[in-house]
Amino acid sequence: MDVIKKFAIALGQGELVIFPTETVYGLGADATNSRAIQEVYHVKGRPSYNPLISHVDGIEMAQRYVQFDEISFALAQHYWPGPLTLVLERICGSSLAMEVSGHGKTAGIRCPAHPKALGLIKEFGKPIAAPSANIFGKLSPTCADDLDPILLDKVPNVIDGGPCHVGVESTVVYVHQGQVTILRPGFITQEDLETFLGKKVVLSTTDNTAPKSPGQLTSHYAPNKDLRIDVKEKEATETLIGFGQIPCDINLSEKGDLAECSRNLFHTIRLLDKDASVKKIAISPIPNYGIGVAINDRLKRASQKKGKSNDK
Ligand code: TXA
Ligand code: MG
Repeated sequence: MDVIKKFAIALGQGELVIFPTETVYGLGADATNSRAIQEVYHVKGRPSYNPLISHVDGIEMAQRYVQFDEISFALAQHYWPGPLTLVLERICGSSLAMEVSGHGKTAGIRCPAHPKALGLIKEFGKPIAAPSANIFGKLSPTCADDLDPILLDKVPNVIDGGPCHVGVESTVVYVHQGQVTILRPGFITQEDLETFLGKKVVLSTTDNTAPKSPGQLTSHYAPNKDLRIDVKEKEATETLIGFGQIPCDINLSEKGDLAECSRNLFHTIRLLDKDASVKKIAISPIPNYGIGVAINDRLKRASQKKGKSNDK
């Protein structure tokens, strides 16, 4: 049987399926099945107050579960399929499991731009809830080889779609009373959104005591080894990840291309994290504009010592 068909059936039976998207790999479950969603939280080790993104095959499917305000609708029309998650009000009687909403009134919805993800959602016929397919607080996997063996032990259903084209997680946007707020920066930038909408878009700042998005916790996306960011000169014990035309041990993009940098980012950190000859990791400065904002957001969290945050 075709692998997409087989795994769509598995989802219907409450099983979990790891699948590729254009951003990162997702740990998927039937978004209408509370038990399956509880299993996602359990397997990932994620606190249940942190809501999940439900993946749809387009606006029509989304409208069966959530309602769009005018601006969110325009954003979905323009950016879907693509790396944009919209936080939307659940419709009255929505059959999305309450767990995907962290028991709140909203749900994060996105339509991924990946043929295998879209194929799986279409075949399944309902939204697939999926956080990134990593153990909570660790780096998101951007290829099947980067999936954590502990996770694979618990979830053997994997669709391999090769390397993810974007490499950082989607931009999460919330529109409230006409105000557009980015809850998590991503591939679609503040500038992109402002140009498209012709209005100001706010980038939310982190409040460590009341996180609006778990991706916004202080320590997240963390490798096991020490990671130092904004490094102009490496120390003797460090391996330097570079950007642009500088001397370094491994380069994210020699030509200084931020999209190439985001595509290579998590995989490169992971490679060095696994390499026994590497003691400490250092990363040279990445420009803080465009996708660089999302990259620096992830790097800042990845470089935090875990003890400092509420992310356990
Ligand atoms: O690119 C992505 O977004 C990937 C792929 C698999 O689609 N998914 C992903 O999921 O990164 P996750 O669970 O690791 O991050 C979801 C983000 C979190 O920051 C979460 O707080 C936010 O989306 N989110 C989801 N639903 C929300 C809601 N109802 N209100 C506020 N934030 C929400
Ligand atoms: Mg994640």
